[in-house]
Amino acid sequence: PLNTAANVGQWAARHIVDRINAFHPTADKPFILGLPTGSTPLEAYKALIEMHKSGQVSFKHVVTFNMDEYVGLPTEHPESYYTFMYSNFFNHVDIPPENINLLNGNAPDIDAECRRYEEKIKSYGKINLFMGGVGNDGHIAFNEPGSSLASRTRIKTLTQETRRANSRFFDNDIEQVPRYALTVGVGTLLDAEEVMILVIGHNKALALQAAVEGNVNHMWTISCLQLHAKAIMVCDEPSTSEL
Ligand code: GLP
Repeated sequence: PLNTAANVGQWAARHIVDRINAFHPTADKPFILGLPTGSTPLEAYKALIEMHKSGQVSFKHVVTFNMDEYVGLPTEHPESYYTFMYSNFFNHVDIPPENINLLNGNAPDIDAECRRYEEKIKSYGKINLFMGGVGNDGHIAFNEPGSSLASRTRIKTLTQETRRANSRFFDNDIEQVPRYALTVGVGTLLDAEEVMILVIGHNKALALQAAVEGNVNHMWTISCLQLHAKAIMVCDEPSTSEL
């Protein structure tokens, strides 16, 4: 474990930059990066922006896929994952807008939107590196407890626990938190060449324990990473208290 959240973010950003630069991406062969939202990756995004500003990395030939999005929240809502991504990352780096992929939680045909996303990922072959966080209850992206470990991009009903946890972004009012989200599946995540999960804070301690010491099971979907050949957990000290 690293001692602070800032160190977790810096370690993760350095890892992403090293991977992008070692790949030597071009317009014909872009680096495919999966990205999360939430409070956990904020320090990593800050560090990536700093590294971009100091000339250590370019996102010109990086294509991104975000993991999830609320259903029914207007795109311009301050808590949409669209708004989060532009204000915390995309607006501050040189990524071309056409390289950005986000799920549209307002698509008229949700199933078609999820199929479109999977097909777009497949058109690039595979995601080279997927960065993620974890929910208190061990969910990865919005793959809530009980999700199939073979699941693909689809709509999920959010659990009461997730809506309660995320109500801190909605005036602490659970009623304002959307009930559904679109999310890449566990299977989609497992297809990535490498998965890097950031774990920050003591309230993630049980999820981290389930991830690395529990058995692989669909109630703690983060445990799916035990099946992955190249998965890294980047943790701060408090999150490791149950190991
Ligand atoms: C949401 C997101 C997840 C994220 C989780 C943890 O449920 N869909 O991708 O990992 O929250 O959020 P935080 O990083 O704010 O603790």
